[in-house]
Amino acid sequence: MKFAEMRTFSNVFQNYDPRNPKLVGAMDKEIDLKGKWNELHFKNNKPIVLELACGRGEYSLGLASLFPEKNYIGVDIKGARLWRGAVNAQEAQLDNIAFLRTRIEQLELFFGSNEVNEIWITFPDPFLGKENRRLTANGFLDKYKNIVTKDAKVQLKTDSRELYDFTKEVLENRTDIKILIDNPDIYQAEVNPSLNIKTYYEKMHLAKGKKITFIQFVFI
Ligand SMILES: C[S@@+](CC[C@H](N)C(=O)[O-])C[C@H]1O[C@@H](n2cnc3c(N)ncnc32)[C@H](O)[C@@H]1O
Repeated sequence: MKFAEMRTFSNVFQNYDPRNPKLVGAMDKEIDLKGKWNELHFKNNKPIVLELACGRGEYSLGLASLFPEKNYIGVDIKGARLWRGAVNAQEAQLDNIAFLRTRIEQLELFFGSNEVNEIWITFPDPFLGKENRRLTANGFLDKYKNIVTKDAKVQLKTDSRELYDFTKEVLENRTDIKILIDNPDIYQAEVNPSLNIKTYYEKMHLAKGKKITFIQFVFI
């Protein structure tokens, strides 16, 4: 039911077949949004912020209400989770947020160079033992670099110490990246409102007493 309903939503775009880089929007209408998200969907010129691994899109929803001057796109492969985010966005009447259902491996098919002004990666699967699947592995960073503007901030929020340590090592070994913030325990001190949004997964980790880490970096 959720999948059928999602096909009618004007705030969801989906790629059904990873071998065919085609996006469809409401009523299965094919749409080529690469380089044209603002022109064809948001119909304004606001900066575009991606949330990767958005799940139910709680982070994007929180940011979209805090910052109406930006456009948010939540990206995930799991349709039922995106359905929840899309319904919540409609109920909150937020028109500065959309959802993209695709594997993050395919981002470059759906965004043009310099189209994205900021990226959040929120509580992605740490993929222990499968380093190249982690969303901060070099292969993913190269893809992000191809779609972001100069000085775009890329930020990772995670409870996973393994992913945090891995990310730091990857970033420090690259000559095209500068780390701006590196915080292994964000709630040690007061945090700003954008960092204080708590998703389903974050609440679960906090309840277990886990520390939440944050890394922010730019491509130079
Ligand atoms: C642990 S959940 C976190 C969801 C949400 N950010 C939160 O904090 O509640 C991780 C999400 O990442 C998504 N994900 C992981 N790897 C992905 C990939 N390569 N492409 C698309 N989605 C991915 C999963 O589908 C899942 O919804």
